[in-house]
This record gives sequence, C-alpha cells and structure tokens, in this order.
Amino acid sequence: MWISRETAEDWFRYKGWKPSTSLIGWEKRNRYLLVKNGMAKILDDGGAHGRNAIYLASLGIYDVYLTDVNVYSLKMGKEKVLDKSKDKKKRIEIIQSDSKYHPFQNEVFDAIISHSLTHWLNNLEEVYQYLLDCYRILRPQGILFGMTFKEWRKVSEKFSRYPIFVNKETLKELIEKSGFDIVKIYEEVKGNKIAWFFEIKK
Ligand SMILES: C[S@@+](CC[C@H](N)C(=O)[O-])C[C@H]1O[C@@H](n2cnc3c(N)ncnc32)[C@H](O)[C@@H]1O
Repeated sequence: MWISRETAEDWFRYKGWKPSTSLIGWEKRNRYLLVKNGMAKILDDGGAHGRNAIYLASLGIYDVYLTDVNVYSLKMGKEKVLDKSKDKKKRIEIIQSDSKYHPFQNEVFDAIISHSLTHWLNNLEEVYQYLLDCYRILRPQGILFGMTFKEWRKVSEKFSRYPIFVNKETLKELIEKSGFDIVKIYEEVKGNKIAWFFEIKK
C-alpha cells in the first residue's frame, strides 16, 4: 500500500520536514553514547522523505543512511539540500529497499531509527523478520529506537488497510525472540492514537 506517489505525497503533507519530537529527545539522551567513539552510523529505516534523517544529518556528527520501500518518498528527500551538501558530514546516503531484507552487510550500524514503520508491515511474522534483520545489521551493543502503534481510538478511513496493533506482551516477545535486550518500552498517547516506543539493544 505504501509504494505510490499518492501515499508519499500524503505523508509529506502530513509531516513535512519537521523531525519527530520523540526522535529529537532520544538523540539528545543518547548522543554521548553514540558519538563517544567518533562518528556513529545511523539508519533512518522506512524514513520516507527523510524528515528525521535530515535532522540527524544536520547535526554533523552522524553518518546517516535513509531507506524506504517507496521510491517517491525518497525522491523528495533527494531533492532536499542536505543530500547534495558539499559538507560530507551532512550528507545522507539514500537507498530504496524493503526493510525486512536490508541491503547492508552484517554489523555495520550503531543505531537504527524505526519510527512508525513496523505497524505497516503485513503481519507479525514480517515484524519478526524485520527485527531479525535489524539485529543482523547492528553492531554489537548497537541500539534501535522504535515506535509502533498500540491502538487508535478512531481508525482513519483514509487507509485501505488497518495498521497492525500490538500489545506489550507480544511486542516484548518479538523483540526478545529476535535476540535484542529491552532497554525500555513506554506508552505515549498522541491525539487519538496510542503508541509504543521501544528502545532495544543488541
Ligand atoms: C508512517 S510512514 C513513517 C515515515 C518516517 N519514518 C517518519 O516518521 O516520517 C511509514 C513508512 O514506512 C515505509 N515502509 C512500509 N513498509 C516498508 C518496508 N517493508 N520496507 C521499507 N519501508 C517501508 C513506507 O513507505 C512509509 O514511508
């Protein structure tokens, strides 16, 4: 459902270039850990037009990668100035891919941002496959910051398919089965939606 110009444009209209406030907070809390050994390599996974990747790259302290299955979203990101930046430190590597099978070698990333991605996969087996592949591409001690839905109080009719909603037990089970340690899982209410945020570690 995501691979179309229409969904790319809808999402862009909805979020624009403003990064998510939760990502800003997470980055600030983890900056010391991430950069203590030099520039950390971060993947904005399912990052659409790259509002979060662009924010991270603008800090000039991360080597940022952006992936998404929707080529139309990525094209918007590509047109944004940071991708063409002469300042190598602020450049973003943009790659179209299905995040269940990332096109990366094992153990190359220090961190993965998975913001509002997993609930758009088709089922829980796919979420498990996704987490397994994240585990594969993270370095030992690498961290993943994720957000997925617990429930919507009112499901938008705009979508042709409902997202996958998970309860805490299921989310914990999937995370641990894929090899990760849980740092924390917490709930946040965002308007009529309730989201799980999860910080997990290889
Ligand atoms: C709700 S948007 C979130 C975008 C971005 N993370 C943000 O917070 O702005 C979900 C994104 O996940 C992407 N997506 C869905 N399934 C995917 C998959 N299997 N592999 C990679 N990206 C996927 C969609 O194309 C879409 O851009």
